[in-house]
Amino acid sequence: MSNESLANLLKEERRFAPPADLAAHANVTAEAYERAKADRLGFWAEQARRLTWATEPTETLDWSNPPFAKWFADGKLNVAYNCVDRHVEAGHGDRVAIHFEGEPGDSRAITYAELKDEVSKAANALTELGVQKGDRVAIYMPMIPETAVAMLACARIGAAHSVVFGGFSADALATRIQDADAKVVITSDGGYRRGKPSALKPAVDDAIAKGAGVEHVLVVRRTGQEDISWTEGRDVWWHELVDGQSAEHTPEAFDAEHPLFILYTSGTTGKPKGILHTSGGYLTQAAYTHHAVFDLKPETDVYWCTADVGWVTGHSYIVYGPLANGATQVMYEGTPDTPHQGRFWEIVQKYGVTILYTAPTAIRTFMKWGDDIPAKFDLSSLRVLGSVGEPINPEAWVWYRKNIGGDRTPVVDTWWQTETGAMMISPLPGVTEAKPGSAQRPLPGISATVVDDEANEVPNGGGGYLVLTEPWPSMLRTIWGDDQRFIDTYWSRFEGKYFAGDGAKKDEDGDIWLLGRVDDVMLVSGHNISTTEVESALVSHPSVAEAAVVGAADETTGQAIVAFVILRGSAAESEDLVGELRNHVGATLGPIAKPKRILPVAELPKTRSGKIMRRLLRDVAENRQLGDVTTLTDSSVMDLIQSKLPAAPSED
Ligand code: WT7
Repeated sequence: MSNESLANLLKEERRFAPPADLAAHANVTAEAYERAKADRLGFWAEQARRLTWATEPTETLDWSNPPFAKWFADGKLNVAYNCVDRHVEAGHGDRVAIHFEGEPGDSRAITYAELKDEVSKAANALTELGVQKGDRVAIYMPMIPETAVAMLACARIGAAHSVVFGGFSADALATRIQDADAKVVITSDGGYRRGKPSALKPAVDDAIAKGAGVEHVLVVRRTGQEDISWTEGRDVWWHELVDGQSAEHTPEAFDAEHPLFILYTSGTTGKPKGILHTSGGYLTQAAYTHHAVFDLKPETDVYWCTADVGWVTGHSYIVYGPLANGATQVMYEGTPDTPHQGRFWEIVQKYGVTILYTAPTAIRTFMKWGDDIPAKFDLSSLRVLGSVGEPINPEAWVWYRKNIGGDRTPVVDTWWQTETGAMMISPLPGVTEAKPGSAQRPLPGISATVVDDEANEVPNGGGGYLVLTEPWPSMLRTIWGDDQRFIDTYWSRFEGKYFAGDGAKKDEDGDIWLLGRVDDVMLVSGHNISTTEVESALVSHPSVAEAAVVGAADETTGQAIVAFVILRGSAAESEDLVGELRNHVGATLGPIAKPKRILPVAELPKTRSGKIMRRLLRDVAENRQLGDVTTLTDSSVMDLIQSKLPAAPSED
C-alpha cells in the first residue's frame, strides 16, 4: 500500500476539549495511560480485581503458545454472579438493571434483585432440560429482557451461548446450531417489528427440519400469536417451565478460561466463523472499557446502547459490561422510526438517558430525517455519546454532538470487533481532545499500531494496516472447532501480530484514523484511496446525507471511483449538483480522489448490522451479476439501484 496517498488526504481541523466538569470527576484520567505503559500486565491484573473472583488469579497472561492466550488462568469466577448477585449482596437490589421499552409501547422495569431471581430460575430450568457445564445453547430472540436472562442463565451454569440475531433466516440459524452442536434453542413466538408481530418460532422449526438437531426448544411468549406449531416433548413454554422454578441457585465457579460464548461473524468468504470468548479476561475488559470509555457512574447514570443483543455490541455493552458494572440501562425492542421518527429521542427524554451508544448508520439516518426531529425533545440529560460499527464521517460526528449532545457532550468513537470482544481504540471522554472522525488512541493497556506491507510501523502521517501488537484480555481464543483458520485469518499476514483487516492511517499527532476494511481500499492510478475518506468528503457537502464509494475496474486508471449518494431531504438531483459534488471531493481530498461517476440513489444496501455492502455496489458498478444478497436487510434496494444505472457509463 503506498503511504503517501492514504495519508493526510482528509484534513480535519476541528477540536473538542473534554467538558471541565466531566474531566474533573472522570473515572479514568490521563495517568491510566502511563500506568498501563509502565506495566501492562500489572494494569490488567488491577482491572481484573474489579470483578469478584471465587479464586483470585495469581497469573495474568500465559502467552507461551501464541496465538493461543490464557488470561488469569488460575482464577475462578462465575460471570452471572458478577453481573447480578454481587450487586444485590452489595445492597443495590432495588436499583433498576433494565428499563425495558417494547416497540408497541409496553414497558417493564427490572431491578437487580428481580434479575437475580429470573436468572436463577432460568438456570434451574436449563438444568432440568439437561443442559450441563460445557454444553452449547443457541439463543434466537427479539430484544426483550428474557434474552439477557437466557444468556446469563447459560453463563451461570457454564454452558456457552451462541446468540443468533433474530433477523437471520432459518438457514443461517441451522448452520450455526450445527456448527456449535447446540443442545437447546431458546426462542420466542415472535417480537414486534415496525408495528407488527414478527414470528420467530417457525424459523426454529425450519432450522430443525433442515437437520439442526436439538433436544429442546424453550419458547418465550412475547407476541401471543395463536397459530404457533408445537412439537410435544421437544418444545417447552418458558412461562410453564421457568416461572415455577426455585429462585435459589448456587452459582458454581468456573475457570477463567471456561468458554462463555460463541458468536458467529460472516466474513466475505467461507462459512461463518464461530468466534470463541472465554470468561475472566472477557469480563475484565468489557467491564473496564464500559467504566472508562463511558465514564459510567452506576448510581446516577442511565445508559442506553441501541444495538441488538444478537451482535457483539449487545453482548459486551448491553449484557456483560453494563451489568458487571451495576448500571441502570434502557433496552428497546424496536426500530428508530416506529411509530415515528422521534422514537429514540422520546425514549432518551422519558428515561433521562445520560449515556447513548449507537452506530454511524443510525446517525446518518437521523441527519437525513432532519434536525427538527430531535429538537422537539428534551435531550439535556445526555452527557456522553458513543459510536461503533463503522468509521464515523466527521460531518456525522459533528452533527451528533451538536443535535443530540447539545454541543456539550463528548463523542467517543470506539473501534473494536467481534474478535476483540471489547473496545480497543477510543478517546476517553474526560481526557482526550476529540477529533471528529478519528478513534484516536489505543485504550490504556492496549497495543495497536499501523504497519505497511512489510510489517514496518509507519511514521506519523503514514498509512497502512491496523494491527494489534500485544495480546489483550478479551481477545478471541480461537474459531470454534478450527484453530488453523484462527491462525490463518488473524495471525499469518504479519508475523506475531493480530491483523484486524482494516486499513488505517496515523495523523501528524499519531492519532489513528480507521479507513474501512482493506478489501474496500481502492487503487486509482497507483494511489491507494480509502472509500471512507471519499465518503466523508461527500457527506461534508450540505446536499449529501449518506454516501457509499467503490472502486470499479477501469481500463486507464486500474480502478475508478464510483460514488452512490443519498441526497438530503431538500436537495434536488441534477447534473449540476453531480458536477458540484465531484469538485467538492476534488477540493477536499485532491483531484486524484474525484469520483468518476456519482449516482444519486434513494437507499444503500446494508447488512443487518448496518454496514454498507460495497461488494454489491461494486457488482453494479462493474455491470456484473449481483453476488450473494442474503445478508441484506432489504434486497429490493438493489433493484432500485440497478434501475438507476445509465446503460453506458457517462464520461465527463
Ligand atoms: C469491524 C468489526 C465492534 C462492534 C460492532 C462491529 C468496523 C467497528 C469501528 C469504528 C471504524 C469500525 C471495522 C471492524 N468498525 N467500529 N469505530 N471505526 N470502523 O463488529 O461486526 O465484528 O465488525 O467494524 O471495520 O473491523 P464487527
